[in-house]
Amino acid sequence: MKVLVIDDNVALCRSMQITIEEQGHEVSCAHTAADGLRLFEERLPGLAFIDLNLPDRSGLDVLREVCQSGTGSLAVMITGAQDMKATIEAVRLGAYDYIRKPLDLDAVLVTIEKACHHFSEQKKKNVTPIQTVSDHPREIVGASPAIINVIKLIGLLSESRIPVLILGESGTGKELVARALHEASTPKCPFVAINCSSMVPTLLESELFGHVRGAFTGAEHEKIGRLELAAEGTIFFDEIGDLPLDLQGKLLRTVQEREFERVGSTKTISLRARIIAATLRDLESMVKKGQFREDLYYRIAVATIAVPSLRERRNDIPMLVEHLLASISLDLHKLTSGIEERAVRRLQAYDWPGNVRELENVLTRAVLHSRDPVLTDKLIAESLGQYSQSKPVDGIKTLRDAEKEHVEAALVATGWNISQTAALLDISPTTLRKKIGDYNLAHPERVV
Ligand SMILES: Nc1ncnc2c1ncn2[C@@H]1O[C@H](COP(=O)(O)OP(=O)(O)OP(=O)(O)O)[C@@H](O)[C@H]1O
Ligand SMILES: [Mg+2]
Repeated sequence: MKVLVIDDNVALCRSMQITIEEQGHEVSCAHTAADGLRLFEERLPGLAFIDLNLPDRSGLDVLREVCQSGTGSLAVMITGAQDMKATIEAVRLGAYDYIRKPLDLDAVLVTIEKACHHFSEQKKKNVTPIQTVSDHPREIVGASPAIINVIKLIGLLSESRIPVLILGESGTGKELVARALHEASTPKCPFVAINCSSMVPTLLESELFGHVRGAFTGAEHEKIGRLELAAEGTIFFDEIGDLPLDLQGKLLRTVQEREFERVGSTKTISLRARIIAATLRDLESMVKKGQFREDLYYRIAVATIAVPSLRERRNDIPMLVEHLLASISLDLHKLTSGIEERAVRRLQAYDWPGNVRELENVLTRAVLHSRDPVLTDKLIAESLGQYSQSKPVDGIKTLRDAEKEHVEAALVATGWNISQTAALLDISPTTLRKKIGDYNLAHPERVV
């Protein structure tokens, strides 16, 4: 393995170099941050030891660059005994390990052994590497027919200004789709969202339409509503299913006449924004039950986009995992260089009632708890267990093991009476004997 040591103490570098080279590794040394980073780029070492106190820059800066390089290199911080805060910061930035001065050369060798093991495990496990920097954090990721259809619809609908209703379970990406449609239609204009479920009705009304001074108690100043703020852009009604009935009536008029008034005013203002609404509710059945105005429903559901649930597009999960991990790593300032393939398969097997948002939560939790740049299957299993009622994939036995246990149980139940056991299992005594041989089952009293 290639090892880089960055420390201004020349004697210490020298002794580390001799010790590490004796174990058959290639070592290069630098005594400043600038030289260290230059050597890092030139040689791309598997492991870099970085002293916290370098003459030109803080070792933490160097560590950050190494951890965020996306090369998969591991960084070990060398700190003094009193540097607890810096040590914590180093771990937060993604340090693989840290060692303390005065340096114990055996500890250095143990760290190198651990790193070698890490790289060989990673090779064996077929780790999917993650690109750390994501160019389009707001991209709709996916290649399944259902999601391609959504993207096509966005393209088609971006040509017009007709209202669009976005339907989908919670966490499927309804808001993401709304924003994408806005970006594709009127990118230079405002995108204004209003969440119909999070406000009391009176507040919601004045948020939406605005109000004049003195319109109601507490209305001390004039307020411009969100319909007006959206200008030529988009007004996004999130959770429109939760809009109270009286406001549904007011909104209907606004959509029909394309004009409205601020609360307490008679001056009409024209509606210029495009309306996009979203809901996880079944609006049609709400209409049937009288909980949602039918006329408003037909006005806003001129075109609909159904966002598929994650379980309907499991093949997109690996791609989404890669995309989400890149942005989570950036947000948390923690390097993630990959995820074990077994872990990805586990994620694909799960049912995701909370869809992409739940996937995001599970991954965030795993990244937070990971001591390693590669997310392990074990960690993902734990993270899934904590966040959701995942099915216990671990408890599922192979068919062979299950059969073996079942045959053994039947034998024990009959006291190893072959013909009785065969009858119980509805197989011939010959088949039973063959299974006893195949599975290497032994009568307990005959075990030595
Ligand atoms: N296809 C996708 N590609 C990339 N990220 C996605 C995709 N779908 C959803 N996400 C991400 O999942 C999270 C949830 O998406 P969003 O808030 O748009 O969902 P929602 O349907 O509005 O959810 P809720 O019903 O909880 O309001 C966001 O962080 C979003 O960026
Ligand atoms: Mg939403």
